[in-house]
Amino acid sequence: MKDLWRDRRVLVDRALEAELDHTDVLDRKLRASMAYSLMAGGKRLRPILLMAAADAVGADGMKFITAACALEMIHTYSLIHDDLPAMDNDDYRRGKLTNHKIYGDGIAILAGDALLTLAFTVILRQRGVPVDRHLRVVDEISRAAGAEGMVGGQVLDLEAENRRISLEELRRIHMGKTGALFRAALRSGAVLAGASEEQLAALTAYADHFGLAFQITDDILDVVGNAEDIGKPVGSDEKNRKSTYVTLTSLREARELAQRTADDAVAALDIFGEEAAFLRELVTYLVHRKQ
Ligand code: IPE
Ligand code: IPE
Ligand code: MG
Ligand code: MG
Ligand code: MG
Repeated sequence: MKDLWRDRRVLVDRALEAELDHTDVLDRKLRASMAYSLMAGGKRLRPILLMAAADAVGADGMKFITAACALEMIHTYSLIHDDLPAMDNDDYRRGKLTNHKIYGDGIAILAGDALLTLAFTVILRQRGVPVDRHLRVVDEISRAAGAEGMVGGQVLDLEAENRRISLEELRRIHMGKTGALFRAALRSGAVLAGASEEQLAALTAYADHFGLAFQITDDILDVVGNAEDIGKPVGSDEKNRKSTYVTLTSLREARELAQRTADDAVAALDIFGEEAAFLRELVTYLVHRKQ
């Protein structure tokens, strides 16, 4: 699992760089700011998941690396904006100073905007996909990124600062701000590869458990992680007085819930055989991750 992840991560990095090279960015500083965050590393989970979902339904996920790159652009934009002073106000990301610390708030906001919009140009550069599937994926991703998904979740997250919320509310925030893009990644991979309705439903269920388990672990790492390993500050949630699974339950309960949710993700894949081994191992590994 780790080898395939590493190999594909290298290929995603290369493809992202190529996509940026193909883009005629009007301003040098803007290009530098976009490249600064996009090429700063990162686990590349969303593109990897898109490709792994296609593998799971019997296609070669690598065929869809271009569409996969689009998701990483959307994700990177969301991180640039998430770190801004008006949002989480964080100074480090992916082991480097945050985008606005280097380029200033104005350019950071615009670099985020540019990555978000470039993502849709890039999705359309994906070759070898029937038009109906292509359109369905654009619909899936645009909705997941926006008010119905990630942006909506980020707003709920902002509005929950300084206030004790219920676990149900927290779940809704997590499913939006983090879950929606994972869901779009897995569903897009499935759709691009021509999945059956049954396969699509199974991968969607996996995605929802995956997203929740992933964000619970992110909350845990914000408390007990090591800033060097996670490449971003520890204690950001406490600083911003956020409710998280750790503050609403306890560290031990949050860990148990992450594990149980990862188990649910694995169980959702029971209609698949070996083709889904990567997805099973990945979610199990990620709840124990250090970065
Ligand atoms: C961080 O995502 C933001 C969340 C949704 C928790 P990742 O942990 O996937 O960040 P990178 O891409 O590896 O930097
Ligand atoms: C942000 O969640 C999720 C996004 C959509 C960027 P967090 O604010 O917890 O992410 P980190 O911890 O800064 O990566
Ligand atoms: Mg945030
Ligand atoms: Mg943050
Ligand atoms: Mg966090």
